[in-house]
This record gives sequence, structure tokens and C-alpha cells, in this order.
Amino acid sequence: MAQERRKPNVRGINPYMPSIMDFDRVWWRESIIYQIYVQSFQDSNNDGIGDLRGIIKRLDYLKKLGVDMLWLTPIYESPMEDQGYDIANYTSINKLFGNMDDWDALCEEIHMRDMKIMMDMVFNHTSSQHPWFLESKKSKDSPKRDWYFWRKGKIGKNGEKLPPNNWESLFGGPAWTYDEATDEWYLHLFSSSQPDLNWDTPAVRDAVCEVIRFWGDRGTDGFRFDVINLISKPPDLPDAPIVNPDQYEQPAVPLFTNGPNVHKYVNQINREALSLYNCCSVGEMPCGVSELQASEYVGKDRRELSMVFQFDHMGLDAEKGNKWNIRKFSIPELGRVMRVWQQHMLGNHGWNSLYIENHDQPRCVSRFGTENPRYRAACAKLLATFLLTMRGTVYIFQGQELGMPHPEGWKIEDYSDVETHQYYKAEYERRKKEAGGGEPDMSDVMYSIQKKSRDNVRTPMHWDTSPNCGFTGPGVKPWLRMNSTYADINVYIQEKDSDSVLNYYRKLIQVRKQHPLMFYGAFMQLNPYHEQILAFLRAQGPFRTLVVCNFSDDPAVFEIPNEIDIDMAVLVIANYEVCENKLEYTTNLRPWEARVYTLRN
Ligand code: GLC
Ligand code: CA
Repeated sequence: MAQERRKPNVRGINPYMPSIMDFDRVWWRESIIYQIYVQSFQDSNNDGIGDLRGIIKRLDYLKKLGVDMLWLTPIYESPMEDQGYDIANYTSINKLFGNMDDWDALCEEIHMRDMKIMMDMVFNHTSSQHPWFLESKKSKDSPKRDWYFWRKGKIGKNGEKLPPNNWESLFGGPAWTYDEATDEWYLHLFSSSQPDLNWDTPAVRDAVCEVIRFWGDRGTDGFRFDVINLISKPPDLPDAPIVNPDQYEQPAVPLFTNGPNVHKYVNQINREALSLYNCCSVGEMPCGVSELQASEYVGKDRRELSMVFQFDHMGLDAEKGNKWNIRKFSIPELGRVMRVWQQHMLGNHGWNSLYIENHDQPRCVSRFGTENPRYRAACAKLLATFLLTMRGTVYIFQGQELGMPHPEGWKIEDYSDVETHQYYKAEYERRKKEAGGGEPDMSDVMYSIQKKSRDNVRTPMHWDTSPNCGFTGPGVKPWLRMNSTYADINVYIQEKDSDSVLNYYRKLIQVRKQHPLMFYGAFMQLNPYHEQILAFLRAQGPFRTLVVCNFSDDPAVFEIPNEIDIDMAVLVIANYEVCENKLEYTTNLRPWEARVYTLRN
């Protein structure tokens, strides 16, 4: 039966018909970036650790998936206290992963396939094993003393030695470590094995630019800058306000985030290094970067970075910014965060990245999705649809394309991550003291760890059905426990199943590439207060696409606003079979159903 066409209820202007918005077409805006967590991707020499030669073996898989650029997590010389985010030499390769010849070969193989390579640059801090730090530590008048933050401590009421200020490290505990030899303390926003570089020293900035040029000259096409919004510290390093009176160290995040000279320093990197190459850059910005602040880093005329990683959507399930303190969030809250970023970037000639999973953030199916195994695949496809139909550059973390969930039932000994162990240890000690020395109950801590630990995503990749899933040899012990709970989720099986999450990702990536509006178009959310559904229009000039996602284990009803003309709507992709041959103004969606329509008028 022909559907009666409803009349628009707005006179004159139609809010769903925005004006034409043009945006410069640039390769990296249209790229799909795939993050390789190198130690867990593919082992080529059976030592249980993924490596560069292993990546080469899997390049055809990545090409077939449709990815354009590969971001490699840090592969430099490192004691691996923080899995390589503690660098001891920026221009040499960690023996665990191979050598410079392997890197050159990998880079060439990537370029031969018309793909690109992004390197991870960690310059807020070095490893405490870096020769710069070892030199700096030698004496108060070392020529590199001011490459790091060394300060005199304070004396407490009972004569005890206290750090120079009360800052708390982002991994817990004080942000300062005492050095006996010179009777001074050094600053580390992360673990004590990651001393912060002092960017106020010009020689540090020169050294950083030299490292970027080293990798740019070798063929690197993209740079990811680790915690780059933390590099400029406030003068005099003032104390943070006291919010936890029962301990010395206090959260100091606003004091060291987006500090006074950060734009000057990022601009210098751009001028003296990045601008020499046809490359792109992404700055990781934890600890709070608003959309307004982000514009200052990525605005078209700023000459700083191409895009940032913001964390607003990642903070939704954290109570008061504490990731271990889990809170439930609603779909309208998620919609609001996405809408704010999408629209702000568009309105301010900015550009941003899109991600819902990475080496620090747990698996999206387990976190933004469902616990019901029946809907796992549908949910993974819905999350893919949601991510790949927004405006920005898409990042996919290895295994996300398989719909990998978290491993289950791990004990604290199974985890390797420094942040996880620091959290566990601090809680254990605090509770033990409170309990007067008895064994404390740690079950709620383990619950948080099973939900939020970074190791939930860092488990080795599942390639096939063999023991160790083809990641390493069958008899080998992988560096981190395999996600044995879900060993049946792997590339080999999904490759053969036309309805698999993997094949859905492939199709969706092609859909995105065929519709430039997906990269550049405006974003308008529909019905933002719906408790289950997230829906939006993408529009560019006369072209419009409608995306509808039911984020729930229950069916849902969606009313398309009258003003939207859906007469000629055509289904582009969906994660269920859609039998109706015509889109109706009232649409019923099944649990975790996602659909994309092009409206054609
Ligand atoms: C970034 C990295 C994370 C690391 C931290 C310190 O947040 O993504 O893995 O632990 O910086 O380098
Ligand atoms: Ca290896």
C-alpha cells in the first residue's frame, strides 16, 4: 500500500536540508587507519611476541579489509615497563620486534600495496633508561639536567621527606620519585620509569624535531603523538587543591593539561618537522580536551595537528573521571557527546578522528554493547556502522573487525599491564591497612579490572583455529595470555562466513569510500532523547544519508521526523536482512539493528 506522505510541519526552512558545505579533499581525511598492537599481532619467529616480519605476512589481509594506513604502537628500544610507551632510544628498533632492515622492508611492502604507515611518538616522557635521562640524573650540573624536571623536596611535619608538590601520577601514587644521589626528585606523570621531558628547554624541542625528521625521511606517512596535551607544565609547578584529605598526593590534571606553551610547542613541531612531509598527525589528548580547545590544535589555519583523539565518549562510563569506578551511561548521553564533537568540528573548520577501541580502551562490544552472546555479532556490526558513518578519520583497533569481546575470568596474575597492577596494589594495601592486616576482599576491584583493564584488548590476535590461534607456534607461550574464552572468534572462520563481522566491516569500508559525504558531510542527530536509538542524518549539498542504530537488547520503534522526505530512500547497508522494500516513517528495529539509507532527494 502506498504510504501517505506527511506534510512538513515547519514553514519556510527545512532544518534537515542544510546548505552546501565544502571541505578540502585530503587523503588522510578519507583514510581508514588500522592500529596494530605490534606485540600481539603476529609472531614470525616463535618467541611468543609479535614482530615486524609478522606484520609483513598479514599485509594482504589488511589490504583486503580496505585499510589505508597502519599505525604501529611503539617499536623502539624500551625496557617495556609500559609496553613500549617508555622509550630508551627513539631511532633504534627494539630487538623483540626486529631491526631497522625489517622496518625498511615493512615500510616498502606497505607502500607497494598503496598503503601508508603511521608511527607512534612518545615525547611527553622517555624511559628512565634513556641515555638522556641517565645523563640528566648524573649530577645537578649535568648539561642535560634541565631536560627533565628535577626539584628539591619538602620536609613533612614529622621530618619525613615529601615530594616537591602534591601531584598524583596518572597511574596512581605520587608523580615524583626521589633520587638519593643528588637529593632531588624527578617528575613523572605516569610510572616512575617514565620521567617527563622538560619541553621548556629549547634543546629538548630540537631533539624531538630531529626524531620526527628521522622517521619522516625514512618514509613515515603519519605520526601519532602520545599525550601531547600534557607536554607544557605550568611555571613553578604549583600544588593541586586538596580533594582527598587522607593522602598527600592529589589529582592535578587541570594543572598540567593543555598547559601555557603547548600550542607554541606543537606549532614548532609542525614548522620544523611535520610540514616537511606529505604526512598527517594525530595528537592523543587525555585528561580533558574540550571541543573548543581541540579546535585550537586542529583548526585549518593553526598549523599544528591534523586531528586529535578526544576522550569524552571514553569517559562516559567513569564516575568522576575515575575509570575504575564504573557508571552506567545512557544512549542520549552518548549521542550528545558525538553530536557536540561532530558539529563543532564542522562549524570550525576542524577535523577529528573517530574511534571506539584502542590499546588503552577495552573492547567496544563488551563496553558499549551487550553481554548477551546472542547479539554479539549484531552488536559489533552496529558499532561498526555507528563509527564508520560519522564525519572524521576512522581508526580501527586490531580484532575490532572480528567483534572480539573481553576475555573472561582472568585473575590478577593473568594481567601484565602496569596501570592495572598499580591500581590493584594500591587498593590492596589501602584495604589491608583498613582491615587491620587481614586479607581484604578484592572482588569489586577484580570486577573493575575485568571490565576496564587495558589488557582486555591487548591479547594476541586470533588468525585461525590452531592452538594460539595462529598468532605464534602451537607450543609457544604468548607474552600475554590468549583470550581463550573466545578462541572461536577468528579470521579463518569469519573469512568463510559471508555474514561475519569481518565481512561486514569490509563491505562497510567500501560503502564509506563510495560516498564522500560520509567523510565530509554535515551531521544532524534525530530524536536525541530516544533511550535506545541513536540516529542521524549526514548531508552534503543535495545528498543525504540516514543512519539508524538500536543500541539495545530489545526491539525499538523509531519515528522519522515528518520533514525528512524518505520516498526514494534506498537501503545501503544493514546488519540484519531487511524485508520491507520501502522505508516507513515508523520503523521497527530488532535488537542491535543498524541500517543506513541514502535518501536520494
Ligand atoms: C598514552 C598511551 C598509553 C601509555 C601512556 C603513557 O596514553 O596510549 O598506552 O601508557 O600514554 O605513555
Ligand atoms: Ca617474535
